[in-house]
Amino acid sequence: MRKPILLFCVAILGMATFTSCNNKVESPEASIDPAEATMYTILNRKSVRSYNGEAIPADVMEHLLRAAVAAPSGMDVRPWHIVVMTDKSKYEEAFAGNFNMEKFMQSGAVVVFCADTTVTRPPRENPDAPAVTAPNPIWRDDMGACTENFLLAAEAYGLGAVWTACYPFADRMAPIAAYLNLPGNIVPYAIVPVGYPTGDNQPKDKWDTTRIHYERW
Ligand SMILES: Cc1cc2nc3c(=O)[nH]c(=O)nc-3n(C[C@H](O)[C@H](O)[C@H](O)COP(=O)(O)O)c2cc1C
Repeated sequence: MRKPILLFCVAILGMATFTSCNNKVESPEASIDPAEATMYTILNRKSVRSYNGEAIPADVMEHLLRAAVAAPSGMDVRPWHIVVMTDKSKYEEAFAGNFNMEKFMQSGAVVVFCADTTVTRPPRENPDAPAVTAPNPIWRDDMGACTENFLLAAEAYGLGAVWTACYPFADRMAPIAAYLNLPGNIVPYAIVPVGYPTGDNQPKDKWDTTRIHYERW
C-alpha cells in the first residue's frame, strides 16, 4: 500500500502545479504517470461525512473550483453557478434544518452547486436570428459532471467531501434558494460540504462485471 501512496503524493504535487494566469497544468515530472495518478484519485474517491473543522486555503479551494468548471456540458452551455459558503453562523438559516447540520458545521466550507435551467442563444434552425431564452433540457447532466469533478479534485488534495442531494427535493431547495436570493431560473442542485477528513473513510470497490456489456446486452 505504501508505494501507491508515495506515487500518488509525488504525482499530485507535480500535477497540481498551475500557472497563475491561465488554467494550464504544467507538464508533470517525467517520472509521474498521469494515467496512474488519475486512476488513483478516481478509485480512492469516497463520500466523507466528518471533518476536523479546519478552513480550506483559498488557493486550494480555487483548484477545486477550476476542476469543477472544467467539466463538459451539452453544447458547452456551462450552466453552473457555484456558491462557496464558510460563514457557519449563516448555515442554520440557509439550510433550515433539512440537512445533517453537524456535518456542515464541521466542514471547512459548504459549496452550493446551482444551475441555470435556461439557455440563451439563437434558435438552432436559424443561427443568425437574435438569441432567445429557452429551457435547457440537459442542465442536470452538466451539473453532475461539474459536481463529480469537484469531488475528484477534493480527493486529490487530501480533502473529504460528500455530494448531498438538493434538487429535486423542494424542502431542501426552498430555504437555500431564498437565502441565496437565487433568480427564478437558477436552482440549487447539490450541496457539498468539504473539509479535512476525520475517521476511517475507505473507498468502495464497485467493479462488477455483470454491469459491463460488450457489443450487445
Ligand atoms: C445524486 C446523489 C445524491 C446524494 N445525496 C446524499 C445525501 O443527501 N446525503 C449523503 O450523506 N450522501 C449522499 N450521496 C452520497 C452517496 O450516499 C454515496 O455516493 C454512495 O453511498 C456511494 O458511496 P461513495 O461515494 O463513498 O462511493 C449522494 C450521492 C449522489 C450521487
